Amino acid sequence: MIIVAKKSIKDLKDTEIKGKKILVRVDFNVPLDAKQNITSDKRIQAALPTIEYLIKKGGRIILVSHLGRPKGEKKPELSLAPVAKRLGELLKKEVKMLPDCVGDQVKAEVDKMKDGDVVLLENVRFHKEETKNDPEFAKKLATLAELFVSDAFGTVHRAHASTVGVAAYLPAVSGFLIQKELDIMGKALSDPARPFVAIIGGAKISSKIGVLKNLLDKVDTLIIAGGMAYTFFKARGIEVGKSLVEDDQIPEAKEILKKAIDVGVPILLPIDHVVADKFAEDANVQVVPRTTIDAGWLGVDIGPDTVAKFKNAIMKAKTIIWNGPMGVFEMDKFAKGTIEIAKIVAAATEKGAISIIGGGDSAAAIKKAGLTNKMTHISTGGGASLEFMEGKELPGIACLQDK
Ligand code: 3PG
Repeated sequence: MIIVAKKSIKDLKDTEIKGKKILVRVDFNVPLDAKQNITSDKRIQAALPTIEYLIKKGGRIILVSHLGRPKGEKKPELSLAPVAKRLGELLKKEVKMLPDCVGDQVKAEVDKMKDGDVVLLENVRFHKEETKNDPEFAKKLATLAELFVSDAFGTVHRAHASTVGVAAYLPAVSGFLIQKELDIMGKALSDPARPFVAIIGGAKISSKIGVLKNLLDKVDTLIIAGGMAYTFFKARGIEVGKSLVEDDQIPEAKEILKKAIDVGVPILLPIDHVVADKFAEDANVQVVPRTTIDAGWLGVDIGPDTVAKFKNAIMKAKTIIWNGPMGVFEMDKFAKGTIEIAKIVAAATEKGAISIIGGGDSAAAIKKAGLTNKMTHISTGGGASLEFMEGKELPGIACLQDK
């Protein structure tokens, strides 16, 4: 059983498995290169505990996932076939790839399954009804099975047919990945070991307003860096040159700065910057040891004094949430600040802090720093972990059965 807000969700351990046809929603939205090779199987690995448990208990496992955003078109380059192959290697057993996710042929294949068999349905977003949460389509998916297991944490913020719709027609419980994600992140938000420090970066403040507001009520220190910091500087009347600023978000930034004062939570912003004369690897670069940035220059990373200031706060923390890079880390020349912060979070974790990394860019930065195994938890959800930290209800969780 897991507890989210006031809801207790039924999980796999509470459920009879043997001989049952089980529709398992996983998030196999993995990165592929131009030749459809999987470049990170992290999300496949993350689904293994649930799949292996169901195999061991004699379930008939029907996996359903999306891959990319094909918008209802059958795009061969977004087939899940490479995932079936990789999953088969990891499980050391056959994972049969089915040609579609609904229809007579799929139903016939599913009816032939034996206890412990695993099949993977083709990309559910090849049908436009999926993202519309079409009830007839959800019903067709549901008729394949007798039980629905939701284990696609990365997709629980989407109210789609395979994440929410099917739960109207089948008993619906959570898998182990969802349980792990909610347990770790839920505890950090509701009962954190203190001091609790959140590090929020990334390009745009607009995508993180909700998170910043929600975290201000919970953390002891809030660190804000990355592109979004320049909107905060602008809100305080500080010159930022050509740096990225979302003018329409200046009132929101002002409100957050005011709220921080009201609730007594220090917000740490950069005190020096790496600036460039253009947004390119071959730009001229300098470090400016102050908060103002001259006209003609744009901030692309945090400077060394900022790293030292942030280090001071992070090393005292007992709980750390990190979401979003400190600069334009995808360009090597501007990745240093983000990599330094990754090393500091790893060192704090080694000292006993709990470190929770929101998916997407922060996870990529940590991978780039070679520190993936040094963090307590790297979420498999990008948008989903953000919405969870915003305190929003996640439709893919809300639809699961109460205990
Ligand atoms: C993700 O990669 O964040 C999830 O798989 C959800 O994908 P989506 O943003 O295309 O819904």
